[in-house]
Amino acid sequence: MPETVTITDNRTGESVEVPISNGGVDASQWSKLLPGIWFYDPSFGATAAASSSITELDGENGILRYRGYPIEQLAEQSTYLEVAYLLIHGELPNAEQFAAWTHDITYHTFIHENVRKRFMEGFHHDAHPMGILVSTLAALSTFYPDAKDIFGAESRHKQIIRLIAKMPTIAAGAHRHSVGMPFVYPDNNLDFCSNFLSMMWKVAEPHFQPDPVLSHALDVLFILHADHEQNCSTTAMRVVGSSHADAYSASAAAAAALYGPRHGGANEAVIRMLTEIGTIDNVEPFIASVKEGKGRLQGFGHRVYKNYDPRARIIKKVAYDVFEVTGKNQLLDIALKLEETALSDDYFISRKLYPNVDFYSGLIYQAMGFPMEMFTVLFAIPRVAGWLAHWNEMLDQDARIARPRQLYTGEAVRDYVPMGGR
Ligand code: CMC
Repeated sequence: MPETVTITDNRTGESVEVPISNGGVDASQWSKLLPGIWFYDPSFGATAAASSSITELDGENGILRYRGYPIEQLAEQSTYLEVAYLLIHGELPNAEQFAAWTHDITYHTFIHENVRKRFMEGFHHDAHPMGILVSTLAALSTFYPDAKDIFGAESRHKQIIRLIAKMPTIAAGAHRHSVGMPFVYPDNNLDFCSNFLSMMWKVAEPHFQPDPVLSHALDVLFILHADHEQNCSTTAMRVVGSSHADAYSASAAAAAALYGPRHGGANEAVIRMLTEIGTIDNVEPFIASVKEGKGRLQGFGHRVYKNYDPRARIIKKVAYDVFEVTGKNQLLDIALKLEETALSDDYFISRKLYPNVDFYSGLIYQAMGFPMEMFTVLFAIPRVAGWLAHWNEMLDQDARIARPRQLYTGEAVRDYVPMGGR
């Protein structure tokens, strides 16, 4: 059987046979046969916007792999910094490469004093930390004019290191500002996640050493959130990057896309939903109201996964490790009941709606003491590694500027009517 698709223009009887390659067909063949007829796909639901060798996602079978390595093995055996290296470089580092990578990231954790004093402290006291993060990322581009050299290998590498390293510092700074606590400088004697927890929680102690179980749990969550192929924020990164904007401007755009409740904001929405449900007895009436179309079950469903999100399975396990240290999150029982009820209900079964990465992550963050406004920020810290891996790949591919077409549905040509005649 030929691995091809034939497109026929029934107006002219002309056909073109297009080979299926890597699971897709080349749209330029469509354009050759049908100039001026556009493929209508506003949410890119049937469009491969890039070819990529970074992350493989098989949503039907619940499979997620970074550079070929199963997410379960990475979560079990790797660290976020090693995974970030893998995503960017394509291979796991050897001992020497990893030592250099860790050193470089560790020594770029500080942010310019003016970023902290003039920008971050300038925000209103109740500014959402995601708003602070998005704006600060954009502001960084003005501090590093060398970032404009996007085709210089050394410059590109430097911006990647800076961005991965500074995300926790900006994130913790955004939190400290919102609660009126003084900024905590990075402690470069700590590992990546412990340093972030120190910048979040340190008060008057000379050295803050977080519980290793909590640092490790956060590290696993960072691995799980590091990349997810062409999701909304990564697509924003690639689209903005395709105009040859610098890495900070493109990352700010990606972070803005992540901010929305349909994407990175869903973990916050899950906690609000569980709090509103309040007791196990309210679970069934809540599910009934979702089925009547009165709102969605937050943390359920996914554009690509039509099976249990493998990240949700790992996170559920991590939750129990964290609760051993912090005590159980009271909302857990409601979440478990909600999952059990939904997974045995035909509405959710027939639509293949399963828990996604956000269903349990918020419970962990809340148990660890993070305020809800920080949840999406916690998603953004590691996702920057994925954004940058895609940005790097897109530049290596010398991708054309993203410039889709539209189906025009407005008025036909008409003559201007002067104000007095309207
Ligand atoms: N609760 C109830 N019904 C749902 C849900 C849900 N969470 N998600 C989808 N549906 C229904 C939807 O009403 C539709 O039903 P019908 O065919 O009868 O109209 C059907 O399932 C298909 O939904 P869709 O809106 O076409 O699906 P989509 O691929 O456009 O949306 C989604 C994907 C993630 C935006 C959506 O499932 C959703 O809103 N989920 C809740 C928010 C959430 O958890 N987001 C986190 C996503 S994972 C993390 C990330 O990628 O950032």
